[in-house]
Amino acid sequence: MFSFRALASLALGLTLMFDSWGYVMPHQDPTDILILVNKQNRAPAVPVTLVKPDVTPTRESVAENIYMRPEAASALEALFEGAAEAGLTLYATSGYRSYSTQKAIFDRKAAERGEQAANRSVAKPGYSEHQTGLAMDIEGETTLGTGLTEAFGESPEGIWVAEHCHEYGFIIRYPKDKTNITGYIYEPWHIRYVGVEAATEITELGVTFEEYILMVRGDRIEELKGDVMQDEEAS
Ligand code: DAL
Ligand code: ZN
Repeated sequence: MFSFRALASLALGLTLMFDSWGYVMPHQDPTDILILVNKQNRAPAVPVTLVKPDVTPTRESVAENIYMRPEAASALEALFEGAAEAGLTLYATSGYRSYSTQKAIFDRKAAERGEQAANRSVAKPGYSEHQTGLAMDIEGETTLGTGLTEAFGESPEGIWVAEHCHEYGFIIRYPKDKTNITGYIYEPWHIRYVGVEAATEITELGVTFEEYILMVRGDRIEELKGDVMQDEEAS
């Protein structure tokens, strides 16, 4: 195991070498549960095994939209059971999305709000974590019917999820006050499966997934940076 303090200083050092958070991961393994998918890193266009978790969908009509990768689906079931033991009811709204589903969602938002605004809350097709089968948008009984809004974060269910989801291997992927790093608005409803170990470290460090990946995979990013610099020198 590595020490959190060492990781944090490594991340800070690496961070200072970059002008922005737009770093590209070289050669990601599409089956890796720590795969980084964001505005700079595409979701792999390979088929992933998907199963429907045994949880309640927000509406029966969305039941076909809650598939996840098997390990994430089991963890989601445990998370929902944990919430139930605490007297809280969670619902699953949106899990795996195909490229075309993500495109439809982005295009609809862009038509309503304009492309720039859409870009702050919806990933462009090809760049959504939902395409990995490792993310789920969830709602709670208290705010049910209001859609995916910040109100979830203030609700008893949202507060419980923020406090406990790492115990089940999930993180709040787009935290408040980190939008400059993630590139997205605060989304208390979007949880991402990364496994218990990574989720616990991310939560204890109080970092985003972008920062965490720099901490644990920074050496590979440095390799890429070296390659890019060599290319520039050669041209
Ligand atoms: N709302 C998140 C960023 C997505 O569309 O994947
Ligand atoms: Zn989402």
